[in-house]
Amino acid sequence: MSEQSNITIPELTLNNSVSIPQLGFGVFQVPAGETQKVVEDALEAGYRHIDTAAAYRNEAGVGAAIAASGIPREELFITTKLRNGEQGDAAAAFENSRKALGLDVLDLYLIHWPVPSQGLYVDAWKAMEKLYNEGAVRSIGVSNFLEDHLDTLLGATDVVPAVNQIEVHPTLQQAAVAAKSRSHGIAVEAYSPLGQGSDLTSGPVTTLAEQHDATPAQVILAWHLATGNIVIPKSANSSRMRENLAAAGLSLSAEEIASITALESGTRIGADPATAAFTQL
Ligand code: A2P
Repeated sequence: MSEQSNITIPELTLNNSVSIPQLGFGVFQVPAGETQKVVEDALEAGYRHIDTAAAYRNEAGVGAAIAASGIPREELFITTKLRNGEQGDAAAAFENSRKALGLDVLDLYLIHWPVPSQGLYVDAWKAMEKLYNEGAVRSIGVSNFLEDHLDTLLGATDVVPAVNQIEVHPTLQQAAVAAKSRSHGIAVEAYSPLGQGSDLTSGPVTTLAEQHDATPAQVILAWHLATGNIVIPKSANSSRMRENLAAAGLSLSAEEIASITALESGTRIGADPATAAFTQL
């Protein structure tokens, strides 16, 4: 089942009733000059949910691909993120992202990192609430928020985030943050869902892949989907894009899901949100 087309991508309903394709396409680390082609390939493969960020410096390429695709706007779900260095002026940052993407209304706008040392994420959220209430963005959310950041935000603001996009893959599941997010109706969105490729060779994953005549990436993505995560794998290769999309057609048993969940080892690939600053981004 490695390259099936005409797969139906499941949709999740966010806490504000907005629908999101559960399996999307991430463009983290896609170079700006290659982004238009890569996103055109992803749209051609069947992805309708694209995840970018101002900090990735490739929003314009995403926008160019959307414009070239001719796909009706309402069929697409486009996410971007507020740069850390612009938390003090989220409205202006949003406007720049909207222009770069060439879109009037964005589907999801996220605070990229809490950067607690900056002390600005509550102010940024209030500016984003205004954008949301004005209809400039259909949903707002956060990324890399740990439990204490969620507590602070929920205690000081009105709109509950629609999603918390965090690093989640079999060897780093952040179960406590995920459970807390879900307990407030905040959907968990998994970035680096394949562990940036590093989880693909683990024993249970390759065994299940053989048993299901699937690939290791499909097994991991099927595990995410079964767990309820929104998931945004990245691939620059159109055959692997299709392979990943076809994971929506793979069902795992409860026992098989548990065997992947057992791979947790607390191995973080990205930065620790408690300390990450990246204010240059
Ligand atoms: P490539 O872009 O060459 O396909 P993550 O989404 O966890 O960040 O993982 C992305 C990494 O995993 C990239 O290096 C990507 O390489 C690789 N990758 C994505 N899909 C697959 C796949 N189906 N099989 C093997 N590697 C994959």
